[in-house]
Amino acid sequence: MQHEAITEIQAAQTLDDLQGVKTRYVGKSGLVTKELGTLGRLPPEERKARGAEINAVRQAIDAALTEREGVLKRAALDAKLSSEAIDVTLPGLGLPSGGLHPINRVYDELIGIYERLGYAVVEGPEVEDEHYNFEALNVPWYHPARDLQDTFWLEDGRLLRTHTSPMQIRYMVEHEPALKVVVRGKVYRYEATDATHESMFHQLEGLVVGEGISMADLKGTIAEMARGLYGASAKVRFQPSYYPFVEPGADFAVWWENPRGESKWLELGGCGMIHPNVFKAVDDLREAQGKARVYEGQTGFAFGLGPERIAMLKYGVPDIRYFYANDPRVLGQFRGEL
Ligand code: PHE
Repeated sequence: MQHEAITEIQAAQTLDDLQGVKTRYVGKSGLVTKELGTLGRLPPEERKARGAEINAVRQAIDAALTEREGVLKRAALDAKLSSEAIDVTLPGLGLPSGGLHPINRVYDELIGIYERLGYAVVEGPEVEDEHYNFEALNVPWYHPARDLQDTFWLEDGRLLRTHTSPMQIRYMVEHEPALKVVVRGKVYRYEATDATHESMFHQLEGLVVGEGISMADLKGTIAEMARGLYGASAKVRFQPSYYPFVEPGADFAVWWENPRGESKWLELGGCGMIHPNVFKAVDDLREAQGKARVYEGQTGFAFGLGPERIAMLKYGVPDIRYFYANDPRVLGQFRGEL
């Protein structure tokens, strides 16, 4: 029996198998236990020897059980460890990284240029009062820009700003000259969209006011921006133009060339010397707020331009609407560009 039991114990492949063998031999009604139960029926002179014999068998079986249990437990632990092992040499799962929107990249470049020239950078409300968007900027009621067709009007009489120029007024009402500031932000026009027109787009507005500021400073500033964008040999062109809030007013363009040999005048925006009526409107607003009239008699210039035009050329984007359609095929191309 001892020999059979030990063969079975050594053959047990799992702890469950082993438990079965243990029950069969040394359990409550196991073979060894039963054998011990027969001792009482033996003549007293045989009992002692037989008892010792059976106990020796039992001890041998117990020892084999304990040893086999240790072996199987270690094997089970090893299997568990290797099945749960983490292979730290496997390549990781990459988290898709975002990227700066191309318009923000162009803004960063432009604003970097103006920061180096000592300009403050501000933003302002997109929901604007008619007075700041038009009247205070000397835009008369009959000017085509006031056309209901061009402006998103809100039910409360306010509007979505059609340009960043109302921030000229807001900034001057809050600050006294001299000042140099650029404004970044969204603007809105209620018009048909096509490859070069979108109902929401961006502007960068510049405003400089101070003693002796002249048209030459304006031209030099635009030229400095062009050199910052397109290198030391960048050329700029000014053409007379009309904006009610500047006089004289001009449109400016930058000669744009790329390594593929393409080149053209890139119409970037409008500019001019601040119209005296604008300074007067600012002083009126300041006076109504109990502030000193400090702008009449000042000189200054302003300019406004659209980063979309620069971004379209820089990145070869053929349609302005691609910037805002949130199509991952477009924006994915700027992934990781920070
Ligand atoms: N606000 C004008 C526009 O939206 C641009 C401009 C700004 C022109 C400042 C002159 C001076 O078209």
